[in-house]
Amino acid sequence: MFTFEMKNDKFTVLNLTDMQLNECNYDPDDPEYGNAFAVMDYTIKEVIKRADPDLITITGDISMADQPKAYPAFADYMDSFQIPWCLVWGNHDQQDVTERINFVYKVLPYYRQKKYFFHEDGDPEMGNGNYVIKIKHGNNTVHALFMIDSHNCVWLPDENGVKHFYYDKLNEKQIKWYKEQAEALKAEGCKHSSMLLHIPIHAYQDAADAAFRKGVDTLKITVKESYGNSCWNEGYEEAFGVKYEEGAIACYPYNDGVFDAILEEGITDNVIAGHVHTDNFVIPYKGVRLAFALKTGNIHPWRKELNGGTIITIGADGTSEITHSYVDVEHLI
Ligand SMILES: [Fe+2]
Repeated sequence: MFTFEMKNDKFTVLNLTDMQLNECNYDPDDPEYGNAFAVMDYTIKEVIKRADPDLITITGDISMADQPKAYPAFADYMDSFQIPWCLVWGNHDQQDVTERINFVYKVLPYYRQKKYFFHEDGDPEMGNGNYVIKIKHGNNTVHALFMIDSHNCVWLPDENGVKHFYYDKLNEKQIKWYKEQAEALKAEGCKHSSMLLHIPIHAYQDAADAAFRKGVDTLKITVKESYGNSCWNEGYEEAFGVKYEEGAIACYPYNDGVFDAILEEGITDNVIAGHVHTDNFVIPYKGVRLAFALKTGNIHPWRKELNGGTIITIGADGTSEITHSYVDVEHLI
């Protein structure tokens, strides 16, 4: 559990996600160096300048688990801003299912040496790093951030017993933990929170199905159009952002029980996920904003119009707004 004090009746969280730079991208002497560091560096400096954040959160996929030298390089880079920063791990930060814990725990000791980095492991049966950040206004906790590990992948059998690859879901212990933490927060008068994780929960699929207007080709909606009403069904006028990844949302394919827990507790206003680099929709669904964070940088699938960071602005009463801060890197590519 970590606590931050709100200053000037506002607390700003800047979320970065899915940088995924390889080792070579941090080494100017490497023939494969390329422009990825320049793009990430320009993007992060720009969004920090705009947002002036109190806290930077990262929703996973820092690099790839087979690029171990990229992890300390990124930690050094992030600490240079002298702004508190923390993360949840993504599927690419962890090796295969059996090895994943080993990899994160190889990286963590170096991260813990960094002055502005913080992290809490949480119960190892819940994964690698599940913790709560409280944001206080005076003596009152007005908003909390649930930092949640969404694990890696699972192989699920179909009706013929053939196993297929899917992204994982939160386990039962995590949902129980979320509910217990939510109850404790409510008992101290906190009414608002956000859940940050890498892989989206299954409700993102339901929200997208409900919100995008039937007959609209989601692959053709421009970012600008997404801020209007032409692509949204009635009742979803507050939604914005695009869904450029074809097909189903890259999440657990069945109901994972997380959204039911969120609705039951009634304390979580926002869910913020990374993982899908070419989706950035923010859909208010049943009273909860389900948001894809804007991808940071140009490694792996990316769209230049979907580069930047996502800002969660929390007011003195704990209510919040989510905005994407788009960064044009055309001059670097
Ligand atoms: Fe991912």
